[in-house]
Amino acid sequence: NAGNSSHHQEDLVLIHNVPMLKSIANNWEQVEGFQARPDDLIIATYPKAGTTWVSEIVDIVHNNGDVAKSSQAPIYYRVPYMEFFMHPEKNIPGMRYLNSMASPRLIKTHLPVQLLPKSMWENKCKIIYMARNAKDVAVSFFYFHHNIKALPDVGTWEEFLQKYIAGKVSYGSWHDHVKGWWKKRQEHPILYLFYEDMKEDPANEIRKLMRFLEKDLREEVLEKIIHHTSFQFMKKNPMTNYEGLSHDTVFPFMRKGITGDWKNHFTVAQNEIFDADYARKMEGSGLQFRTEI
Ligand code: A3P
Repeated sequence: NAGNSSHHQEDLVLIHNVPMLKSIANNWEQVEGFQARPDDLIIATYPKAGTTWVSEIVDIVHNNGDVAKSSQAPIYYRVPYMEFFMHPEKNIPGMRYLNSMASPRLIKTHLPVQLLPKSMWENKCKIIYMARNAKDVAVSFFYFHHNIKALPDVGTWEEFLQKYIAGKVSYGSWHDHVKGWWKKRQEHPILYLFYEDMKEDPANEIRKLMRFLEKDLREEVLEKIIHHTSFQFMKKNPMTNYEGLSHDTVFPFMRKGITGDWKNHFTVAQNEIFDADYARKMEGSGLQFRTEI
């Protein structure tokens, strides 16, 4: 029955060496074979990097600043999550919905770059990647696992952090994810954005987005978009806060929306271990993240 299946806890299964939710692994042929279209716009992120935030911004810019139009449907209808196969009984938009969706489509994915369906490369789809510093992602991801009962049991914060550092979480290593996408932008139209930059100066980052999407919106429109996509606004906006979906929610999806909350969770010892491992993995990547702003 629907109640039971929605509380069934998922395992992780390796797909090309990346741990993925079993519901995704079970449908991997569909993911690999996904048919992209040249005018698809892809929003790619590691989980909890600000996907919903950047999705809302992209949708509004794409609609030339028409916030009323973007307020007509929940974000998961406007920017469907490509590799979503959980809760089939709830009929939440996923691949099936995307396959029947009219163009132009905005598509959300958390896939690491090497697992993206190849038709997205062949069709030269524009891609917006948003990255967020590893420590705040860890905290947000930890709460998210406790929020959504169907996700794997990750244990305590200490236990989760160990798994996260080792890349033994859904979608694998954060380090590999951000590095892989960073490198790919040398050969493909990818706009690589940072959560911390968006937080600090949304006008500047949204202007980058406008240039990337070839949209020339007036300053008043830009101001309206910034207001409509602020954390406070999105938290109370039923079209972006996932309220209808999260009856099993312990923490709200829109939790804190800040940079630096990791300081309230990492112990000094955890931070030292994390930093040493981080330095090894990120050396020579050319990527610089800010953990405070
Ligand atoms: P926290 O858990 O740190 O609060 P995703 O959409 O990728 O799942 O990411 C969710 C994270 O983005 C959550 O982080 C959420 O609060 C934050 N977020 C969502 N909307 C935001 C906004 N408008 N401004 C800042 N952060 C936002």
